[in-house]
Amino acid sequence: MMRAWKVQRHGEPGEVIALGEADIPVPNPDEVRIRVDAAALGLPDVFMCRGTYPFKPDLPFTPGQEVAGVVTAAGANAETPVGTRVMALTSFYRGFGGFADEALAPDSSTFAAPEEMDPAEAACFVIPYHTASLGIETRGQLRPGETLLVLGGAGGTGTAAIQLGRALGARVIAVAGGKEKVEVCRRCGAEVVIDHTEENVVAAVKEATGKLGADVIYDPVGGKAFDGALRCIANEGRLLAIGYASGAWHNASTEILVRKNVSVVGVFVGAYDKPFLEKVHDRLLARWRDGAIRGQVECEIPIEEIPAALDRVAQRRAFGKTVVRMRRNG
Ligand SMILES: NC(=O)c1ccc[n+]([C@@H]2O[C@H](COP(=O)([O-])OP(=O)(O)OC[C@H]3O[C@@H](n4cnc5c(N)ncnc54)[C@H](OP(=O)(O)O)[C@@H]3O)[C@@H](O)[C@H]2O)c1
Repeated sequence: MMRAWKVQRHGEPGEVIALGEADIPVPNPDEVRIRVDAAALGLPDVFMCRGTYPFKPDLPFTPGQEVAGVVTAAGANAETPVGTRVMALTSFYRGFGGFADEALAPDSSTFAAPEEMDPAEAACFVIPYHTASLGIETRGQLRPGETLLVLGGAGGTGTAAIQLGRALGARVIAVAGGKEKVEVCRRCGAEVVIDHTEENVVAAVKEATGKLGADVIYDPVGGKAFDGALRCIANEGRLLAIGYASGAWHNASTEILVRKNVSVVGVFVGAYDKPFLEKVHDRLLARWRDGAIRGQVECEIPIEEIPAALDRVAQRRAFGKTVVRMRRNG
């Protein structure tokens, strides 16, 4: 048996999740089982508790999309050997996520974790950095010297996008709410940080770019932020639709896209295959070894504190990544 948090019904995380004993899960042929050393929390875990995420496992289920640990069992088709140190995107969509002693993960979403990378940092590497790389490099085609605007800059994907944009030679402008979050964006390498609680974002971006607007905009927020982004994007700009932290996507007016030669570009990591993602992963690890990117572990918590930490994420009070470090007796 093992410890596992399970969502019992849909609602706010602190009210619907309970810690108990569960059977150790058995991987299907394309999965591995991972002894969780660290698990990162994110907004999608909150959406899953609420039942508002596109993936809705049967109740009760264990959330937790991101883990680092060691492979303890492998399905018949899995290529990652038992005993390998890994970081992975879990089988959260089947209800076997990382808020437990052992999680399942598709072999295709399981990647090598370097010995010298701490499990807490490894747990928040795959989603933020793979997404940032696919968004900015593959889909956004960001060029050195261009301006990258990162919305939700102090969040999980935002902090990764700022660092990667800077490493690629872009001038990075970030948007965040409040002094602490502004400071996080600065630490990640943003040259200009706009505090949306005090400034008008569209006007501030125009001022920072000499009225030209941003060449590439990384948008994990959606809603009104997406709308504003379309009003401060440059001619031939690429607006990367990453997520909807605000709770809603937003549609673009074709007329505005035409008038500005603008592209709205969808970005979804899950649509790429393992060989492609392995190359992305290796490139990112090389940047990590160079010190150009660093996982933003803002807070480490024990497994018991997951509900309160998820509530902080839900209430927009968290920044960077909150990571659960597993402790075991013996
Ligand atoms: N397309 C993909 O492949 C992919 C991959 C990873 C994540 N995503 C998506 O990207 C989105 C963001 O993920 P994340 O991990 O960066 O989240 P996060 O760490 O919670 O950061 C999101 C940021 O959005 C801002 N925000 C604006 N309105 C908000 C609201 N109502 N509630 C909470 N935050 C709000 C917050 O910044 P301020 O408070 O500073 O404004 C927050 O820091 C999610 O929708 C996720 O599903 C997509």
